[in-house]
Amino acid sequence: MFKLKVIAALVLAATHPLVHAVSSQAYTWKNVKIGGGGGFVPGIVFNTKEKGIAYARTDIGGAYKLNADDSWTPLLDFADDARWNYWGVDALATDPVQSNRLYLATGMYTNSWDPNNGQILISTDYGKTFTTSQLPFKVGGNMPGRGMGERLAIDPNSNNILFFGARSGNGLWKSTDFGATWTKISTFTNTGSYIADPSDTSGYNSDKVGIAWVTFDQTSGASGKATPRIFVGVASQGTNNIFVTNDGGSTWTAVAGQNTTYLPHKGVLSPTEKVLYVSYSDGAGPYDGTLGAIYKYNITSAACLNVYPGTDITPVSGSDLYFGFGGVAVDLQKSGTIMVAALNSWWPDGQIFRSTNGGASWSPFWAWTSYPDLNKYYTYSDSLAPWLGPNYVDTTAGDKQIGWMMEALVINPFDSNHWLYGTGATIQGGHDLLKWDTTHNVTLNSLADGIEETSIQGLISPPSGPSLLSAVGDIGGFVHNSLTTAPSTMFTNPTWATASDIDFAGNKPSNIVRIGTGDSSSGKQVALSTDSGATWAQDYGAADNVSGGKVALSADGDTVLWRTGSNGVLVSQYTNPFATVPSLPSTAAIASDKKNNSIFYGAAASTFYLSTDSGKTFVAKGSLGSSTSPSKVVVNPGLTGDVWVSTDKGLFHSTNSGTSFTTVSGITQAWAIALGAPAKSGGYPALYAAANLGGVGYFRSDDAGVNWVKINDAAHGFGSASSNVLTADPRIYGRVYIGTNGRGIFYGDASGAAPAPTATTTTVVSPTTTSSTSTTKSTSSTSATSTTKSTSSTSSTSTTKTSTSTTPTSTPAAAYGQCGGQGWSGPTTCVSGYKCTYSNAFYSQCVPA
Ligand SMILES: *[C@@H]1O[C@H](CO)[C@@H](O)[C@H](O)[C@H]1NC(C)=O
Ligand SMILES: *[C@@H]1O[C@H](CO)[C@@H](O)[C@H](O)[C@H]1NC(C)=O
Ligand SMILES: *[C@@H]1O[C@H](CO)[C@@H](O)[C@H](O)[C@H]1NC(C)=O
Ligand SMILES: *[C@@H]1O[C@H](CO)[C@@H](O)[C@H](O)[C@H]1NC(C)=O
Ligand SMILES: *[C@@H]1O[C@H](CO)[C@@H](O)[C@H](O)[C@H]1NC(C)=O
Repeated sequence: MFKLKVIAALVLAATHPLVHAVSSQAYTWKNVKIGGGGGFVPGIVFNTKEKGIAYARTDIGGAYKLNADDSWTPLLDFADDARWNYWGVDALATDPVQSNRLYLATGMYTNSWDPNNGQILISTDYGKTFTTSQLPFKVGGNMPGRGMGERLAIDPNSNNILFFGARSGNGLWKSTDFGATWTKISTFTNTGSYIADPSDTSGYNSDKVGIAWVTFDQTSGASGKATPRIFVGVASQGTNNIFVTNDGGSTWTAVAGQNTTYLPHKGVLSPTEKVLYVSYSDGAGPYDGTLGAIYKYNITSAACLNVYPGTDITPVSGSDLYFGFGGVAVDLQKSGTIMVAALNSWWPDGQIFRSTNGGASWSPFWAWTSYPDLNKYYTYSDSLAPWLGPNYVDTTAGDKQIGWMMEALVINPFDSNHWLYGTGATIQGGHDLLKWDTTHNVTLNSLADGIEETSIQGLISPPSGPSLLSAVGDIGGFVHNSLTTAPSTMFTNPTWATASDIDFAGNKPSNIVRIGTGDSSSGKQVALSTDSGATWAQDYGAADNVSGGKVALSADGDTVLWRTGSNGVLVSQYTNPFATVPSLPSTAAIASDKKNNSIFYGAAASTFYLSTDSGKTFVAKGSLGSSTSPSKVVVNPGLTGDVWVSTDKGLFHSTNSGTSFTTVSGITQAWAIALGAPAKSGGYPALYAAANLGGVGYFRSDDAGVNWVKINDAAHGFGSASSNVLTADPRIYGRVYIGTNGRGIFYGDASGAAPAPTATTTTVVSPTTTSSTSTTKSTSSTSATSTTKSTSSTSSTSTTKTSTSTTPTSTPAAAYGQCGGQGWSGPTTCVSGYKCTYSNAFYSQCVPA
């Protein structure tokens, strides 16, 4: 019961539940460790000035800095709802002169999905803090061609100068003041004409990929003066696509004699050789590419890219060439040592080639012995992300160890043994790369520890069994037996690339349902478990080719209500064939009652719906005001008919199965909501909301929506609020899990002022007492990170609170204390000068008489 500014709230008490101006409570936020990244890493860049400095960029989850122990630290977790597009990082540059300087080009989409322009984020402290330079156009960190690059480059001779190649035909831009202001280079006119799919009406594949990379030739200049020679690769096909300036960008010419058959993905300089290595693919990537090439451009001789012998150094040809090329790495310590990656060799696995003689000859990462056997010139280690190996199954990609979507490939400029590359699912690499040239057998590891870039679709925290299960984009989902250790396996049997939701049965919490978004090739898209997600069975009641949407499992676990992606609402009991539910709109948010097996709830537009016949029929109940799009229905696990509905017009509460609703004053929009362990035993479940309550944030109420505290802080914005999912722990008061769209799952525990004292229940109410109990929660949240959560001291903390409700009810409640409400067993009278005043069905409070 965290009470502040009580008097102001009283004004509202007559007609609405109390709402206070929102104070913050300190929370500790950590990632739930999935490990291994879990998503596409389109760019990795080492600093060439300072040893050990490197950064990785992701397409939906921000950027990361490499640590000495191979782990990564996220840099953009501050991005909140207003700055959600910062998590799309289309390019990064680390300063070769002042290594503390870091620049990120951010923005998610260039089509309507992202209404905002992009920005250059500027850091002078290795990414700890950033300032923002707004760009007058959009940046597409999650657009086609996002693995080409880098589009952003710092002049290595005069680091105040930066170039940025825009998408969408917006051209080439230059800054001379460390990225603070930008000017378009009007003389650069070939801004890229390639469009992946002109017929795509969404605008996603029909925008110009634009300028792909900018590469300075530092050997053409001298320290302190602008570098004269700069190469620029653009996404164009069949027309010149590599340009060069020899006067610092004033005038440009196409590199003579170039082969324009494919799109240039990377242009990487080998300064000692004075050679530019270029990888080509016949698509912009990251998923495509069936042909490609590697060319070298000899700057000294200005040998045309293709006309001189030795300039086409593509490692394979003929029927062995069934992919384009992405990553290009140059070993800055070993002149002529280079590596290139097949962008997408979908079968039998990805492929990487290494040359120690400038591409005259190559050795591969694997080779056929006699089909179907391979010689793998590596030893695979999946210790940091066991679920990823040893033969990671992506249903679209087959079994893979090496990977796919390999655009980022780098060798540490200070350590020829240390290499990293990005794939569609992780970062891999190792520390014994030189063995490639001797024993031709290196150790290949997942090296994405600390990177959590998954898109979370659903979360549940059942009251028994594992504390957390997830439905995850691209990698299916997990039972999180530990929050701090990577799971050993993703959901299998059935295995789906993306699970779109998950639910448990209230009375039998080890009964779980999950749904997938794939097609019939990956089986029926409903799966049931009776052992908390350890093993699964397909629900054969599901029709083929029906997928996606949201799911609710009835209280006893025998009925599945499924609001599908595009086949309306369906219901099935006892795994019988799913039947349509015409009485519930196909856009409805759905939920099951957690106690009564025959009750389901729904909400669509401004109407709440109730089913009392196991989902077969729904009847319209109360009004959700002017709402047009309810996001979530959550049900009090202990009380049938006590439901919360979040909508674009606020947060609604009903205690009578939706017959009537009250609204929470002050909340103008709400997205994900959740109910968790109550602050006090027998009290109302703690309520969590991603909401707009005087600003978009994450909030908790311990008294059924009367008082709220803000629980996220300036360092934890969680990106787009409307994309996120929440669940709250029914066993640990204060703990909430936030599933993000691109930064994995966070769990939060209160570390600041705890709401209730542990010694006695009579002093719950005063703000000062509340603050003084903060150490209880700190201890609790620390313990909670241990691997044995269900029996750890975490539980005993809440038990302690539970068992302290021994105060005789004859003792009056203190000023502002709780003095009544459903489930309340504490005092019902108030100390002198205060009277017990009804707030709502769950909460009465001692206010000045
Ligand atoms: C350009 O590259 C394509 C594909 O590798 C090749 O077929 C063609 O012969 C090349 N053109 C020239 C002029 O070398
Ligand atoms: C580039 O061309 C120059 C002049 O023809 C030649 O001396 C040099 O060896 C070439 N460099 C490479 C790496 O082939
Ligand atoms: C590489 O080393 C591992 C571990 O010693 C071995 O299992 C594997 O067969 C080796 N690969 C080749 C191609 O020699
Ligand atoms: C499901 O879709 C696939 C691919 O479109 C199709 O081949 C298959 O026949 C469909 N199955 C059913 C049962 O409609
Ligand atoms: C569950 O709800 C139905 C419909 O309201 C009701 O008829 C039934 O009695 C309830 N069951 C229990 C066990 O309360």
